[in-house]
Amino acid sequence: MSGVFRVGEAAYDDFMGRYSVRLAPLFADFAGVRDGDRALDVGAGTGALTAELQRRGALVTAAEPSPEFAGALRQRFDDVHQAPAEELPFEDGSFDVALAQLVVAFMADAPRGVAEMARVARTVAVCMWGVQEHELFAAIDRTAQALGSERGEAGARRYRTLDEIRDLLAPLGEVETAVLDISAPYDSFEDFWHALEGQVGPAGAWLQSMDDEQRARAREEMHRQLGSPSGAFTLTGRCYAARVSTDARSAPVPTSDTSTSSSDSTKST
Ligand SMILES: C[S@@+](CC[C@H](N)C(=O)[O-])C[C@H]1O[C@@H](n2cnc3c(N)ncnc32)[C@H](O)[C@@H]1O
Repeated sequence: MSGVFRVGEAAYDDFMGRYSVRLAPLFADFAGVRDGDRALDVGAGTGALTAELQRRGALVTAAEPSPEFAGALRQRFDDVHQAPAEELPFEDGSFDVALAQLVVAFMADAPRGVAEMARVARTVAVCMWGVQEHELFAAIDRTAQALGSERGEAGARRYRTLDEIRDLLAPLGEVETAVLDISAPYDSFEDFWHALEGQVGPAGAWLQSMDDEQRARAREEMHRQLGSPSGAFTLTGRCYAARVSTDARSAPVPTSDTSTSSSDSTKST
């Protein structure tokens, strides 16, 4: 697997967990997860969605290829497997629903990964942030452009539009889609920069590739790109979600291209 998620739990939660814990309830609603469902969280990371699924009474299994994250998940959850989406170690039809939150862009073979999810579950749901539609990634992109520096893994740009994730699931059946909007707070620009320096994901790898002087210029430019905040601020992200269900019972939520939003002012840990 890619090395960009071979990082500690705290660094991930600081950089992305503050967004993914806020996204998880919206995504679980969209997937139609119910009390008592057998649910598989694919690419579970540090457990933002796993915890939400458990909170709503699902019987949760987590699959995660990063040994660091699988170890962290085992501290919190009983049923954790270190495995990639492309090779899920489960029997056909083991789950009611399989979900991949912010994962498909990072799979080595996403069509195979979602086909595996459909093999083991009756409902498959996936979601990914847009790039320009997420203030964090858009600011990073503008900063990289302003500095003329190469940014991140090209592959991680896949499945970042509603059309792309709809097409990804289309071979599995009739696809429903939604747009999920959330926002997350930062205490200060220092809080933001500290999260970015945690070396998480393609953005962290981009920063890590710089020497001290380049990093100092990036810090200055990023501050400017965020509107030169002098205190607490909030960034908003838009996530594209798609779902396929072969389940006879219909889930309550989605109509096509439903837009849902959520924000709050509590920093996640
Ligand atoms: C942005 S994180 C999302 C983590 C978590 N789902 C969340 O919402 O916070 C992407 C995750 O995908 C995992 N991943 C990468 N390649 C994968 C693959 N082939 N199959 C499953 N997960 C994968 C990474 O290890 C990482 O945990």
